[in-house]
Parts: sequence; C-alpha cells; structure tokens
Amino acid sequence: MNSIPYIPGLDDVPAKKSSVSSLDGEQGILAYRGYRIEELASQSNFEETAWLLLYGELPTKVQLKNFKQAIRTSMKLSADLVKVLKSLPKNTHPMKVLQVAVASAALKPVSVAKYQKDPATTKIIEQQCIAYLGIVGAIVAGWQRVRQGKAVLPPKSNWSFAQNFYYQMFGRASTEAETRMVDSCLVLHAEHTMNASTFATMVCGSTLAELPFVVATGVGTLAGPLHGGANERVIHMLHSIKGVALVRDYIKNKLEKKEVIWGMGHREYKVKDPRAKVLQKLLVEFEESKGRKPPKDFLIALEVEKVCEELLGHKGVFPNVDFYSGILYRELGIPIDQYTPIFAVSRIAGWLAHWREQIVDNRIFRPTQLYQGSSIRNYSSIAQRS
Ligand code: COA
Repeated sequence: MNSIPYIPGLDDVPAKKSSVSSLDGEQGILAYRGYRIEELASQSNFEETAWLLLYGELPTKVQLKNFKQAIRTSMKLSADLVKVLKSLPKNTHPMKVLQVAVASAALKPVSVAKYQKDPATTKIIEQQCIAYLGIVGAIVAGWQRVRQGKAVLPPKSNWSFAQNFYYQMFGRASTEAETRMVDSCLVLHAEHTMNASTFATMVCGSTLAELPFVVATGVGTLAGPLHGGANERVIHMLHSIKGVALVRDYIKNKLEKKEVIWGMGHREYKVKDPRAKVLQKLLVEFEESKGRKPPKDFLIALEVEKVCEELLGHKGVFPNVDFYSGILYRELGIPIDQYTPIFAVSRIAGWLAHWREQIVDNRIFRPTQLYQGSSIRNYSSIAQRS
C-alpha cells in the first residue's frame, strides 16, 4: 500500500530541485536566478535574460555580444523549415504550426546520455539550445508571413532578437517603444518555476529524448487554455463584453454557470501576479508614449479585475500574466492567434534552463496511480457476450 497521499494536480508537490527561478505566491514576488522580474523587465532584454536563465549569472559584454550573434544566426530559417511551413494549410493554428516546425527543425541527432560525458556531444547540445532560442521566434514570425502569402524574411545583422522578431513578423522596423515593449514581454514570460509546460518538458527530457521532442512537448502543453492558451481567451472574453457597465452581470453569470474567468487565478499566487502588474503599467506607458487614450478593452479589463477582486478575491483569485498581455499584443498589432506562440518564443528560455539542469542529474519521471478499476477477471470470447 502506498502511504503517500494522492494530491490532484500535484499541488505543492516538489518535482525537482532547481536554481533557475523562485516565486513567493503570498508576497507576489518572482525572481530569475535571484533577480526580480520588475528590474529585468525594465532593464534587461530577451537575450541577456535567456543567458541568465541558462547559465545562472548575467553575461559579460563579450559573452552577450557572441550570444546575441549566435541567436541571430539561428533566426534565419533553413530552406527545409520554410518548406515545412509552406506545406501546412494556411488556416492551421500557429501553435500547431509551431509544434510541427520545432519538432522538424533539422538538428543533428545526438545522444543526450552523453551530455557532460563527451565534450563533442555537449558542444552540439549547447549549440542546439542556443539555436532553439532563435528558431522558435523565427518560426512564429515566419508563419505569419507564409500564411499571408509573403516571403519569409532573414534577420538583420546587428539587430536584437526583439527587433528582428518584430521585423520578421511585420516586414518593417519597430520603433524604440515597440522594441522595448517586445523585450519586456519576452523577459516577463521567459520562466516561471514548475509550471505545466516546463514540467511536461522535464517529463519528456527525463526519458533522454532529444531536444526537438522536448521543445515540441513544451509547445503542446503551453497551448492549453488553462496555461498559455489563456491569453487568447482573455481577449475574446473582453471583446464579448460590450461595455464597462455590462461587466458585473457578465462575471456573475459566468460564475453562476461555474465557468472560469480567463486570465484570473493561479496555482501559486494568492495575490495579483507580479507580471500582470508590470504588463498593466507597460500598457499605460505605451499608450501615453503614443499620445493615445487607454483602449476600450483595457477599461473593460480594469472593471473585470475590480469585480473579480470583489467576487473571487477571498479565494485568492486575481489577474495572472495572461490578463493584460493580450491587450498589449493587440496594441502592437499582433494577431490574436499569435499571442500564445509569442509566449512560447519566450518560455523556450525557461524550458531549456530546466532541461539543462535536469539532464545532468536525471531520473526518469515515473509516478504511480491509485487504481480504481476492476479486479482481475477472466476474458470472455465475443460469442459468449450478449
Ligand atoms: N475563474 C473563476 N474561479 C476561479 C478561477 C477563475 N479563473 N480560478 C480559480 N477559481 C476558483 C476555483 O473555482 C476554486 O473555487 P472553489 O474552491 O469554490 O472550488 C478556487 O478558485 C481554487 O481554484 P482551483 O481550480 O483549485 O485552482 P488551480 O490551482 O487548480 O487552477 C488555474 C489554477 C490557473 C488553472 C485556474 O485559476 C484557472 O483555470 N484560471 C483561468 C485560466 C487561466 O487564466 N490560466 C492561465 C494561468 S497563468
């Protein structure tokens, strides 16, 4: 008999020892390698944060320059990968496209078991990690072009990841404010302790599957509406509420029907997600920089937050990272179905950091179950069954 209690959703069950990030759900604090995300979101950028997550320290100038160059190089999609994108029906959801494309990224087969035991293998795996930091963004941006019948664009030399991602998606240069916004969003979404997609990549990684399988597992898991897919649902929800005055009835009605309010609640946070606070502030600053008034869906979102605080606050349900991000992406001109893929463009950094940490001290994940089915019985042939 197993004496360990059954804990649905593995709530509070530690799955791993890790030094990548830390979270205080009561205080609303999130830090990557000890650095608070508020500071990283305002001062760091995607490449620097990815380095920090992967290697544990902030990079030197030279390290960052070389790292940026390596990521930039991998933002040029291979002809084979462009062929894969072009072969898919144009109405395929970008998350499905991403999963197919990351799995088919033509990376050299390599034995994960030899990581850290054979320098040549280690070098290849490290190169693959860096390649994925660029490839995921290039696929998401590339698919935007392909489905519009436009040419896939190569990255511009000397441009940052955020600049190139924007350029490869829209075919034009981003303004300084837009680049800052993209970078801040990427930094904020890069890592989040033992979330569902990271855990899924670790389960896959624990079998010593190669990196393409691991990344594809992360993408598939992130797609779900209870995880990364929520950002898309939030904007649809906000658009279905036709005015601020209608918010209260909308929320009450949803709760009466036992439906979730998208972008609200989190397993770890019992207060407002610190990333939601930063995103909300960024949105206000961005609109101010453009000399625009807050958009209508932002006003509706503020009211949703207020009503939810009243009706759900006692359960510790407050806005999470997905609540304000969609409005921000919309203001950047990004199509709704690309919101979750952009999450993956950034979260790849966290997946890789955990994967690297795990495979040097690996044990295959193999939990048990509480069997509730039939006891052992005899098989009856089809003729005997009525
Ligand atoms: N809307 C309405 N009620 C919610 C809610 C939401 N978004 N999130 C949690 N609750 C309620 C639950 O119904 C439950 O109420 P009960 O105790 O009366 O049964 C209580 O709060 C605790 O929630 P629980 O479902 O146990 O939380 P969880 O840790 O299992 O789930 C989420 C966490 C994120 C899956 C959940 O909050 C959710 O579905 N949120 C909406 C989807 C979303 O935005 N996901 C993105 C996460 S970053």
